[in-house]
Amino acid sequence: MAQLWGGRFTKETDQLVYNFNASISFDQVFYRQDIAGSIAHVTMLAKVGILTDTEKTQIINGLTSILEDIENQKLPITSEYEDIHSFVEATLIDRIGDVGKKLHTGRSRNDQVALDMKLYTRDEIKNIQTLIYELMQTLHKLMNEHLDTYMPGFTHLQKAQPVTLAHHLGAYMEMFKRDYSRLTDIYERMNYCPLGSGALAGTTYPLDRELTASLLGFYGPTLNSMDSVSDRDYIIELLSSCSTIMMHLSRFSEEVIIWNSNEYSFIELDDSYSTGSSIMPQKKNPDIAELVRGKTGRVYAALTHILTTMKGLPLAYNKDMQEDKEFTFDALDTVKSCLALFTGMIATLTVKKEAMANSAKNGFTNATDAADYLVNHGVPFRDAHSIIGQLVLFCIEQNLSLDTMTLDQYKAICPVFEEDIFEAISMKTCVERRNTIGAPGQEAMKKVLKMNEQYLSNLV
Ligand code: ARG
Repeated sequence: MAQLWGGRFTKETDQLVYNFNASISFDQVFYRQDIAGSIAHVTMLAKVGILTDTEKTQIINGLTSILEDIENQKLPITSEYEDIHSFVEATLIDRIGDVGKKLHTGRSRNDQVALDMKLYTRDEIKNIQTLIYELMQTLHKLMNEHLDTYMPGFTHLQKAQPVTLAHHLGAYMEMFKRDYSRLTDIYERMNYCPLGSGALAGTTYPLDRELTASLLGFYGPTLNSMDSVSDRDYIIELLSSCSTIMMHLSRFSEEVIIWNSNEYSFIELDDSYSTGSSIMPQKKNPDIAELVRGKTGRVYAALTHILTTMKGLPLAYNKDMQEDKEFTFDALDTVKSCLALFTGMIATLTVKKEAMANSAKNGFTNATDAADYLVNHGVPFRDAHSIIGQLVLFCIEQNLSLDTMTLDQYKAICPVFEEDIFEAISMKTCVERRNTIGAPGQEAMKKVLKMNEQYLSNLV
């Protein structure tokens, strides 16, 4: 038990209380952020004349040596200290003596932990964006390769109209573009420095908060000291955005699982991204996709957890806020590993073009186009809809498809049909005539791919 406080206490802390209160087991991941924050703080303290240059140099050298020793595993972070802030400060005093006691001038652990968490999550936003970028690159490449890979598009998981794999993947591309920009928005809003807010009411020292902020790469200082130490909105936003990323990955995983099933066989997952069964030798299971889908709940849990933690807290800092960390770390690690694994999984899967095209052919996915054919020949749409309905029924009874019916069979139901109906309902026609922006036709898709190309190159 080593604490930074105790002056006003006459008794030792109960061991169980100490353990319950301590956060070092999880906030030790902040050692880099904590030391960077302290270096910026003393640099500022020297600039405004609170520390001499010699004191500043001694403290910074001490902090740098602590950082190096932690990184080289020469200095283990032990649970003897309450939290990472106490560990760093106590080790500093141990190493450089009394001058180390000046580090905490004009600072509280409340603004310190607010800073550490912000620095940590700020890096994580960038890390997650890099992983989304890599996923989008992979999707972009696949889209370019599958502009004419026809497949059924579904609604209600019933075959609806033919699309292409490029178009289907393009839907996910749009989702991940939004995810990426949501993270940018969060970064823009959260990148203000809380350090210098003290415990809650600022300090009497003439701190230059603008300097500290700019030394740490923030746009500027936060503007209300009570808000600064008790704001966790950015964590809520980040976990909400992570939940949305997971929801997208989970939907995509669900499709990968369906496509990879024996019944669909639209794709085959690579052996390196599949697992076997201990009893059934024939099995090759899509465990990665299932786990991504399964881990989504953990991230939602973290969002619910932080929302619940914050909902009843009066201003300003309350110890409840210590609970902001473990679930957040877990959620961020989960999102990062899911993004990386998902990207690897889709980069290595094999597309079975023929199975996709055959499936699109067999589900009356061209029925709307057959109705459009009649409309183009003067039949009102509602009548055309009913005529094609009769054709579909006829096909089901006769075990035919719209492509395999004869012209005589067509004419028997509606005399407007001519030989060109077959061309009009071919899968190629059905897809390639859909060329409004956002539609699956190659002409439209190529425009979107060009925009995506531009979008991706602007991100780097
Ligand atoms: N471990 C604390 C946290 O994570 C650090 C701030 C402690 N402040 C305090 N006044 N006890 O929130």
